[in-house]
Amino acid sequence: MPHSLIQSAAADIKTPAYVADTAKISANMAIAADIKARAGVTMLLATKAFAMPACFAFMRDHLDGTTASGLYEARLGAEHFGKDVHTYCPAYTEDTLRDCLRYSDHIYFNSTAQLKRFAPIVRAEKGDAAHIGLRVNPGLSLVTNSALYDPSSPGSRFGVQPSELTPDVLAMINTLHVHNLCENMAQDSVKLLAHISHTLGDALTQVQRVNIGGGHYITHPDYDREALITALIAFQKQHDVQVIMEPGGTMVYEAGYLVGTVLDIFENSCKQAILDVSASTHMPDVLEVPYRPHIIGSGNEGEKPYTYKLGGNTCMTGDIIGDYSFDTPLEIGQKLIFTDMMQYSLVKNNTFNGVPLPDLALLHADGRYEIVREFGYDDFAKKLF
Ligand SMILES: Cc1ncc(COP(=O)(O)O)c(C=O)c1O
Repeated sequence: MPHSLIQSAAADIKTPAYVADTAKISANMAIAADIKARAGVTMLLATKAFAMPACFAFMRDHLDGTTASGLYEARLGAEHFGKDVHTYCPAYTEDTLRDCLRYSDHIYFNSTAQLKRFAPIVRAEKGDAAHIGLRVNPGLSLVTNSALYDPSSPGSRFGVQPSELTPDVLAMINTLHVHNLCENMAQDSVKLLAHISHTLGDALTQVQRVNIGGGHYITHPDYDREALITALIAFQKQHDVQVIMEPGGTMVYEAGYLVGTVLDIFENSCKQAILDVSASTHMPDVLEVPYRPHIIGSGNEGEKPYTYKLGGNTCMTGDIIGDYSFDTPLEIGQKLIFTDMMQYSLVKNNTFNGVPLPDLALLHADGRYEIVREFGYDDFAKKLF
């Protein structure tokens, strides 16, 4: 039974709570480590997708470090994960760049303007150890589910055009960065590598490393790991470069839960239930992507005998998680367990309406439930004054 541990623990869990499944995180890490070992690539965790330092102990030994979206993630990676820190930020100020350099081993720029302005500072600070990267937009749209998540969508602000990789620019960098995927399967990772080979071949002779970003869905059960490994080995050999991968969401794919409680049930056009977990505040991607999270034991609207519209405990009319059906009527006080709730959830949550932040907890392989952090009024108020 894949979810038996959380189902046994749920009755005693104080909600709301994000619960990391440490055994599943370890299983995901084994996949990442296998790719790293057999393909000889550098493998980083993108902390933008998942950053719960209590879980880093289960991840650190399998990976080479973290990749950050800016100063605070760089610092978090350096202080709590350790190993290498790579930082890519769409735009730095001189002050944030200097601070990033304290925590980062690799700095990536998004434009030639930023590169030309700041590469001398990186070189002055780091000397021969300066690892300077530039993001290139390969102009290859492989993300088909939403333009919101396609870095190659028309007019994208991410990365320079390949034509901007002139000799003077290439002389300033030693790494190319291409992030172009989002939950893509192996054939797209392979396509991306082939596209880079084909369109950036000359530039590849001038760099030592190619960071192929995140979005490689390596822990998905249908992901063809062998195809990826074969393509990575061939690419590195052909271009004599080290490939860096920096997946985020997939590292914690299906590796945890958001546990909530039914607070109220009533009827207006249909049966409705208010929960102490909210789409707006605790799982914003449900509204932003958008997508429908799975609840253990539930079905689609009308699939099982009792259907409810599930909503959050906020003022926002659109704070609706969706219509779910159940075998038996919901009851006030009943726990509902949302699955696959580690990625882009706790890193994006907020305290809109003063809604309490969920506890952070670990569910260990032996069934032990460990609360790592609880939040209260101070966490809500601190950012307001
Ligand atoms: C530059 C960069 N690297 C890595 C990632 C991680 O991607 P994912 O969580 O889809 O694997 C992202 C996600 O937006 C990104 O922008």
